[in-house]
Amino acid sequence: MTADLINNQSITYKKAGTFEETRFEKIHNVIFKSSLEASILVAQEIAALIKEKNKRNEPCVLGLATGSSPIKVYEELVRMHKEEGLSFANVHTFNLDEYYPMDKSNLQSYFYFMHEHLFDHIDILSEHIHIPNGKISSDDLYQYCIDYELKIKALGGLDFQLLGIGRTGHIGFNEPGSHFNSGTRSITLDHITRVDAAPAFLGIDNVPRKAITMGIGTVRAAKRIVLLAWGLNKAEIIKETIEGNISSHVPATYLQEHNNTTFIMDEGASAELTRVKTPWLVTSCIWTSQLKLKAVVWLSELTKKPILKLTDKDYNNNGMSGLLTEEGTAYDLNIKMFNKLQHTITGWPGGKPNADDSNRPERAMPDKKRAIIFSPHPDDDVISMGGTFDRLVEQGHEVHIAYQTSGNIAVSDEEALKFAEITKALSGSNSRTANAVIDFLNQKTDNEIDSIETRQLKGLIRRGESHAATRYLGLPDTQVHFLDLPFYETGTIKKNNLSQDDISIVSNLIADIKPHQIYAAGDLADPHGTHKVCLDAIFASLDQLKTEAFMSDCWVWLYRGAWHEWESSEIEMAVPMSPDQVLKKRHAIFYHQSQKDGVMFQGGDSREFWVRVEDRNRLTAEKYNDLGLANYAAIEAFKRYHF
Ligand code: F6R
Repeated sequence: MTADLINNQSITYKKAGTFEETRFEKIHNVIFKSSLEASILVAQEIAALIKEKNKRNEPCVLGLATGSSPIKVYEELVRMHKEEGLSFANVHTFNLDEYYPMDKSNLQSYFYFMHEHLFDHIDILSEHIHIPNGKISSDDLYQYCIDYELKIKALGGLDFQLLGIGRTGHIGFNEPGSHFNSGTRSITLDHITRVDAAPAFLGIDNVPRKAITMGIGTVRAAKRIVLLAWGLNKAEIIKETIEGNISSHVPATYLQEHNNTTFIMDEGASAELTRVKTPWLVTSCIWTSQLKLKAVVWLSELTKKPILKLTDKDYNNNGMSGLLTEEGTAYDLNIKMFNKLQHTITGWPGGKPNADDSNRPERAMPDKKRAIIFSPHPDDDVISMGGTFDRLVEQGHEVHIAYQTSGNIAVSDEEALKFAEITKALSGSNSRTANAVIDFLNQKTDNEIDSIETRQLKGLIRRGESHAATRYLGLPDTQVHFLDLPFYETGTIKKNNLSQDDISIVSNLIADIKPHQIYAAGDLADPHGTHKVCLDAIFASLDQLKTEAFMSDCWVWLYRGAWHEWESSEIEMAVPMSPDQVLKKRHAIFYHQSQKDGVMFQGGDSREFWVRVEDRNRLTAEKYNDLGLANYAAIEAFKRYHF
């Protein structure tokens, strides 16, 4: 790559994203508001390189990654090919890795992934595509890996390497312990990597234990490296990689020694970087009221002192003397911040009728509000805000629950078979649909997509469970809406992109109910997951409806799903729960029986949902208490979204 091209690119990234390296950072990185915007710029960098190489009549050698991170880059490259005539005729690709053993035809193979997302839609020559062969015999493996390296070298080396990063700090499948100079080889996957891959394989037991991967040495030899990281799940490892010392425990840190690497991140992935998390430690700050609160909460947690006990010395010793100069004394600042947090607490999430609401999170009027609780799957409502849901109903508001997706893929085959057999027993042996489901499930092969009837039954099981939970919380069935958004209905883990059909279903419901409150899952942890798509559907609907008169009276509250919680300083409404309310919430979650015990999409946390959420709600309450606020059993937290 020419120096000019590199310079132009980093100028483009700098203009579009936030770029301000500090003494803590050892790798060039740029932070973007959205992963989509960033992915488009990365695709543009790749396209510029392809064109330049083409002009010079040289092959363009790309190292490519799979996984969720590069998907939007590939989408944009495909768009450029189709709409702008970008040709890949001179492009040679080398994929980083493949599971081992793994058949090409397997839906989970990286071979399948690359063809589905990129190669089937562009004019690359099939002989220019190289993906490690997951079927190579163990006898031939050693030589095969040497040949893979030689093929890269024969083409003049990698011009550009696209990377994601695993939570173990792996690049490619170079797991902790990998050597700086390693080449292409077979490797044993780390447990965390297998846990992360488990949803795609419908359970950890199906995830291969080994893979073939390009080595750290192979990657480091690339002339240009761009690593993509999206979402809060990557925040910890990104901090370690960019700010930590070079170590084989975090193989991505080896990139600190590469002189042409850029990390491209969204706000979630950058959240733990010192300059983002505690900017007052590295630079002079513009002290917005949000930043003041963030800093004071951080200081209180650091010093293990309640806010009202923080002293001038605490502030001065921890990079916050500038803030004190602005505010006068610790005493004044402490009281201001304490009150701000105190005012987030309310037992009246729908507003307290006839009360002065100038310091309350919600308006007093109208005293009876219409609220829609959007729940991405048919259980997020009770898991994430069961206590608040209960309060809203008890306090007489008209609460509607909208389940955005059917959640059918998360029901196990055994559970579905049980229900199909019950249906058959009830309706006689000639029940055609029940028989079809039973036959299908009895002969279902690994990875086979469920038949339509089986998906229907699985969706109905989740509907039945949802009704049981919403009835338990006192909601009439007429206020429960199953939206079954079409983007989700693929029968597989991979979903379709959000379409206008999805958005219209959501906006029609909002326009029908004209709510004063909307609750939505504001999950940013997994930027490509179902929660994020469901949130995007709501945001797009709000945008389309924003000129409607009722919308000026509609407030949107975001709750977090089962994985993360808002930081204490981000919370704008904290709804406390008594021990009895915690138990009631637990029972509501128990109605979702198909999601108990053997949860299919558990992620990295092996606790059941009700345990995780109880721990989380208790922890939020403890954090409030540690800041010097009242001591509650549990708290559910919300942040307001302004559209
Ligand atoms: C994929 C690869 C891996 C992934 C990493 C992140 O070819 O080599 O290193 O880039 O595991 O995966 P995602 O993007 O799914 O978070």
